[in-house]
Amino acid sequence: MLASALRGFFLWLSHLGWVAWLALHTPLLRRVALRFVAGTTLDQAVEAVRTLNGSGAMATLDVLGESVEDRAAADRAAAAYVATIERIAAEGLDANVSLKLTQMGLDLGVESCLEIIAPVVEAGARHAIFVRIDMESAAYTDRTLEVAQRLHAQGCDVGVVLQAYLHRSLADARAMAQAGIRVRICKGAYAEPAEIAWHDRGRIGQSFVEMAKLLLEADAYPAIASHDPEMIEAVRSFVEESGIGRDRFEFQMLYGIRRDLQRALLEQGYRLRIYVPYGTEWYPYFMRRLAERPANVLFVLRSVFGERG
Ligand code: FDA
Repeated sequence: MLASALRGFFLWLSHLGWVAWLALHTPLLRRVALRFVAGTTLDQAVEAVRTLNGSGAMATLDVLGESVEDRAAADRAAAAYVATIERIAAEGLDANVSLKLTQMGLDLGVESCLEIIAPVVEAGARHAIFVRIDMESAAYTDRTLEVAQRLHAQGCDVGVVLQAYLHRSLADARAMAQAGIRVRICKGAYAEPAEIAWHDRGRIGQSFVEMAKLLLEADAYPAIASHDPEMIEAVRSFVEESGIGRDRFEFQMLYGIRRDLQRALLEQGYRLRIYVPYGTEWYPYFMRRLAERPANVLFVLRSVFGERG
């Protein structure tokens, strides 16, 4: 009950511009946020990816930013992705990129978004670097899938994310598998109403596992994105029982979260990709991480008061 109220509170805060401004200008909070973010510059992100690659993990780089409402800012975000892709290729990193369509101008319309994202997918194609399209709130689900389908139809190597908490996602997973579009499955990080999304943890887990089984059986190279040991165990036992090879899927986790589990999966010989966000626009990303785990608030408070003490 308290956890759910706190989750709602942090997701609500994540939309408040003035709180974002305050947070971005509070050096102490910025330092705390860096537990979940690889740094504010591409150099720092590259360093983090090098370390991850050294430990056997792959990476997906996210240039932080979302809800961009003017064309020039969206073009700048796209240019930052092109630079990231060029750098991944130049450094020979084992990494791809993840982006949000509202950062690529989705609020300006699907056609504008397709124009803005074009240089990014072209850079991806030039260097054979996969582009994953993150999934945002349910207001964007249809448009996000439409953009992904249109890019895929043009021959671009793009994939999507489906959120297990949405009632529609199992059907979407089936459609993506049929279309040959790769899917990352996650539980879902936004505040959605009960009419369209499950709120019960058990039911979300059930949906997650159903989607994972469907995509594994379809040989669609799903990304299993979760830090939940139950989800990981369910997928592990399913692939063992079904004789599905470890090269036919990958686990994914967020930078700085459950490093113990990350190490264990690598030691057991599973493929693991870490989502590595970087940039100055860390506020909404950070608030979603607080919403997922209220105990993180204690971590923030301890850091703040610990520093003052
Ligand atoms: P759950 O929330 O049950 O957590 C399981 C355990 O993991 C916790 O008990 C705790 O130990 C640890 N944990 C989880 N979150 C933590 C946190 N913030 N801080 C510290 N520990 C934490 N969502 C979305 O809507 N669209 C998207 O595109 C993506 N993309 C994405 C990519 C990748 C690689 C990952 C791993 C996740 C996403 N997500 C996402 C986020 C996802 O929807 C979900 O909110 C989080 O992964 C948390 O759910 P878990 O499955 O980890 O389980």
